Amino acid sequence: MSQDKPRKKPEELRSHRWYGVKDLRSFGHRSRTAQMGYHRSDYAGKPVIAIINTWSDINPCHSHFRQRVEEVKRGIWQAGGFPVEMPAMSLSEPFQKPTTMLYRNLLAMETEELLRSYPADGCVLMGGCDKTTPALIMGAVSMDLPTIFVPAGPMLRGNWNGNTLGSGSDTWKYWAELRAGNITEEDWQGVEDGIARSPGHCMTMGTASTMTSAVEALGLCLSGYASIPAPDSRHAQMASLSGKRIVEMVWEDLKPSDLLTEASYDNAVRTVLALSGSTNAVVHLIAMARRSGFGLDLDRFDALARSTPVLANLRPSGKYLMEDFYYAGGLRAMLAQMQDLLDLSQRTVDGCTLGGNIAGARIFNEDVIRPRGQAIIERDGLAVLRGNLAPDGAVIKPPAMEARLQVHTGRAVVFKDYNDMAERIDDPALDVDADSVIVLQNAGPQGAPGMPEWGQLPIPQKLLKQGVRDMVRISDARMSGTSYGACVLHVSPESYVGGPLAFVKDGDLISLDVPGRKIELRVSDEELAARKAAWQPPQPRFERGYGVLYLKHIGQADTGCDFDFLQTGQRAGAAGEPEIH
Ligand code: FES
Repeated sequence: MSQDKPRKKPEELRSHRWYGVKDLRSFGHRSRTAQMGYHRSDYAGKPVIAIINTWSDINPCHSHFRQRVEEVKRGIWQAGGFPVEMPAMSLSEPFQKPTTMLYRNLLAMETEELLRSYPADGCVLMGGCDKTTPALIMGAVSMDLPTIFVPAGPMLRGNWNGNTLGSGSDTWKYWAELRAGNITEEDWQGVEDGIARSPGHCMTMGTASTMTSAVEALGLCLSGYASIPAPDSRHAQMASLSGKRIVEMVWEDLKPSDLLTEASYDNAVRTVLALSGSTNAVVHLIAMARRSGFGLDLDRFDALARSTPVLANLRPSGKYLMEDFYYAGGLRAMLAQMQDLLDLSQRTVDGCTLGGNIAGARIFNEDVIRPRGQAIIERDGLAVLRGNLAPDGAVIKPPAMEARLQVHTGRAVVFKDYNDMAERIDDPALDVDADSVIVLQNAGPQGAPGMPEWGQLPIPQKLLKQGVRDMVRISDARMSGTSYGACVLHVSPESYVGGPLAFVKDGDLISLDVPGRKIELRVSDEELAARKAAWQPPQPRFERGYGVLYLKHIGQADTGCDFDFLQTGQRAGAAGEPEIH
């Protein structure tokens, strides 16, 4: 039971305005519910639970959600609630072009508006594939009804010819080997058939695993459940338990605003860092925190990174996959190793505190989850860079790069956009060597548009054949959480809006200094100013539709890429929700 609120009465439920009053409109709501085969005893005086389900035929990561939603409903019925499934935009990472990130805020808006416009007393959010998690949470945080998140869970380990395969990471690895001529087309086909062999999201520590773990650390899903593999029967149990719990949360009036604090966001950031999680979490957690009214920023990530060890030995930075992580004790076991770095008093949807949830959690494989004294690295799972090339910041993931490149100066090889890069990167005549710095422009929030995961820029084929497997690469794009390499990402402001990245030319010297947190273009201020004066702003990319709204309101990466009109800090549910007529 919530510590400071009286238990709700049925007539205080939000849905009472649709179902409980005696007027013409309520007659319509009740008669139309009867039309669907429900008797008034099925819903009268019960919490209506909206299940926002991001299942679709085009999203393989959520292919089990058709079944899981039945298990969520079972829990809701058993606890005395009335489940109402509401399908929402799926954001399928492998299929949606140019990138799901273009649509993250659209799903966030859809979530908020579904909850606002229908008789929801609380909600279950079903997501997991990359952007679905932050989008659902952003929308629900803005609406601020009792909320519980059901994570899709990771798929099983991939397998090919006895090799364990990890989503994304091994795609990039074997693609490089194919281009270098070290594996055959037949081998490549085997990788294709074996790398994704069950429902569930990517099972490396990519964006999906990172964000679902962050949500558990925030206290928005049942404790210990973000790591369960999707096909495991315990995942189905989790779905049912979440359905039961959300009904109680409505009676307790336990809302995101009761759970989320600056300290709980710090807990989430530290969790991401200890997992060596995806750099995408920087953008998403900043956006989520700002929806909650907190000013999380890049400097906070960098400050926490300096005192957070990496404890999870997971690809792409490490060796294992999420299935191994779960069997080794899962997120609770890892968090129990870093209790001194967390605010254990933070409340969670379980009705408990984070400290209570992780008390006594044990590690069952100390190579997968490292005990505190045996960290993979003691600090710097992520670093924020600044300098004349990125005045508002950029990020890099030091554990996922070759250490020799942490302090490096090289000649720029510049591609003006993705198509330019795709055309020329493998040209044998390209003037590039292993010390060069590859630069991609126009790949940011407005430039691409949508800030796609192009940031792991390909290594030129002629260098791959020489054995080069990592180089310094710089862009205003994001990078898949399953990717790796010395990739400087999220350069802000982006080149498309006239950030300094737009003015880099072939042959310019660029210096990267990860320990010093610097990224510098070695060109004089006068020369930079002259290039800026000669720069022509590009034409807008959209002339109609959602794209126009997107371009007009999208923020830069350092502020979370949310729409400006959604970052007001005013919650829809708390501030001026319109009357129902
Ligand atoms: Fe869905 Fe990776 S493609 S999580």
